[in-house]
Parts: sequence; C-alpha cells; structure tokens
Amino acid sequence: MAHAISRAVLVTGTSSGIGKATALRLAAHGWRVYATARRSADIADLAQSGCQTLALDVTDEASMVAAIAQVEAAEGALGVLINNAGYSQSGAIATVPIDQVRREFETNVFGLARLVQLVVPGMRRQHWGKIINLSSMGGRLTFPGGGYYHASKYAVEALTDALRFEVGGFGIDAVLIEPGLIRSRFGETAATSVAPATTDDDPYAAFNASVAKISQETYQSGPLARLGGTPEDVAATIERAITARRPRTRYLVTPSARVLLTLRTLLSDRQWDGFLRGQMTPPQ
Ligand SMILES: NC(=O)c1ccc[n+]([C@@H]2O[C@H](COP(=O)([O-])OP(=O)(O)OC[C@H]3O[C@@H](n4cnc5c(N)ncnc54)[C@H](OP(=O)(O)O)[C@@H]3O)[C@@H](O)[C@H]2O)c1
Repeated sequence: MAHAISRAVLVTGTSSGIGKATALRLAAHGWRVYATARRSADIADLAQSGCQTLALDVTDEASMVAAIAQVEAAEGALGVLINNAGYSQSGAIATVPIDQVRREFETNVFGLARLVQLVVPGMRRQHWGKIINLSSMGGRLTFPGGGYYHASKYAVEALTDALRFEVGGFGIDAVLIEPGLIRSRFGETAATSVAPATTDDDPYAAFNASVAKISQETYQSGPLARLGGTPEDVAATIERAITARRPRTRYLVTPSARVLLTLRTLLSDRQWDGFLRGQMTPPQ
C-alpha cells in the first residue's frame, strides 16, 4: 500500500527569532511542525502552540541522527527541512580563536549539510521534499568584522546551489532564504561574540569594539534599521517558498537586503571598501 506523502516540517533553532516565528506560523496554518532546539525547556511554549518539540543540537551527530529517526518513525519521512540554526561569530579575522571559527562552521555549515544528508533519502522515497536553507544577504556581500560569518553563509549559498541541481530530479526543492537586517537575538549574540582586547596596545581593540557596537545598534536605530524587518517577515517568506509549486531559487527578505545588494552590485570592490570606511575605521 502506498503511503501518503509526509509534509511534516522540522525547523532547527526555534528557541527564538526566525526559527520560533516560523514554527509558530506554520503550526497555526495547519502544518505538522517539529520545533527543535538545543534545550527542550526553551521551546516548551511551542508545544502549547501545536508544535511537536524535539531536542536537536546541530553540532551533535547523535542528536541529529536521533531527531530525524524519531520524525521518520512517526511520519514515514520528513517533508520540509528548515535549516535555520545559526549565529555570527564576529571579530577581526586575525583575532577570533580558531576553535570558535570551527564552532561557527559546525553550526552554520556542517550541521546544515549533515541534516540534508539525513533527510534526503526519505524525501527521495516519497518523491517530495523542500529543503529551506537560511542564508543571508551576507551570503552575497561582506561586512568587515563579520568575515567568518559571511564565509559560512557563502558556503551555505554554494551548497544550496549545488544541492538544487542534485535533488531536483527526485522531486525535492532546495531554496535559499536571504534576509537582510532582522530584529531578533542575532545582533546581541554577534556583539557578545567579539572577544574583548587582551592587551593595552592591541591593534584591533578599537576595531573590534566598533564591530560589537555596530552589531547591536544597526538593528535598533538608524536608516538601515528602518529598512529591516521582523522574524515574522521571514517566516511569511518561508511559508511562501514551501507552498509554491515551483519556488524561487532564492528569496531576499526586507528592503535592507535589496538596497545593500544593489549597492554591492553597482560598486567595484574598492568603491565598496570606500563605502565601508565611511561606516567604520579600519584597524590601524
Ligand atoms: N537576524 C538577522 O538579521 C539575520 C539576517 C540574515 C540571516 N539570519 C539567519 O537567520 C537564522 C536565525 O537567526 P535569528 O535572527 O533568528 O537569530 P536568533 O534569534 O539568535 O536565533 C538563532 C537560533 O539558532 C539557535 N542555535 C544556535 N546554535 C545552535 C546549535 N548548535 N544547535 C541548534 N540551534 C542552535 C539558537 O538557539 P540557542 O537559544 O540554543 O542559542 C537560536 O534558536 C540564522 O541562521 C542567521 O544567520 C539572520
């Protein structure tokens, strides 16, 4: 007997921001949602709102395998994977401890890739699936002080472009979501990730301090904040992407993403550097 196609959705990183808004929106609109987070206690409220909840740390192989096995045991397959968990490990390239760089890539890139590997066989079996990868406008342009974060999102862009080609023939869509500035915990996490100066003559002290300050303030006030958006804006775009019969390959979200990407396209590399020097002073 043929099984019905599973359209169960799993969202990573639903303890706050975009992941939480997406889980809530999709559950409210009738999707069967598995909301996941590192600590189950952080998503107890989502269980009250109609989501199934699971513990899932995208840096932990056993945790990823167990979560997908549990969904497949209940649903036959996962229908929609929303790879949302992620953060910015900010700071000048020369100053971020390399173990923290590894953690950034474990979370933003390798966790995302591993979950794709785990869910594709089930989606292939039912010839239906949607893989939604949270990239960023920062997957197509770079701000100094965020180099490792941007590198991780450029990686997400490349992985997803290859994946789209590789899974399309199995009835699976791979889609990039590219938000601009979104008011969530993201800015504060980025600001606090910047290591404080360790010596009085640290040549990066002033630069790193300004990166931390900008990370926090850009989202709260000023012209870019006015062009930003909310986690609910991104959730609405994600729902559009998973509902479309033929989704777009990438969705920019918020005017801030459209304005900054247009600017980046129009400017040469040197002109872009000059624009950035107007916003922050390079390390001297
Ligand atoms: N906000 C923006 O301006 C913006 C713009 C473009 C793209 N994005 C992308 O959107 C996604 C969501 O960001 P957000 O704005 O919603 O930020 P957020 O409010 O800080 O949410 C980040 C989520 O990721 C989770 N997470 C971090 N490490 C994890 C791990 N190892 N395993 C599982 N979950 C983990 C966090 O969980 P904990 O509570 O356990 O830390 C949290 O739920 C990220 O991929 C981010 O890069 C954000």
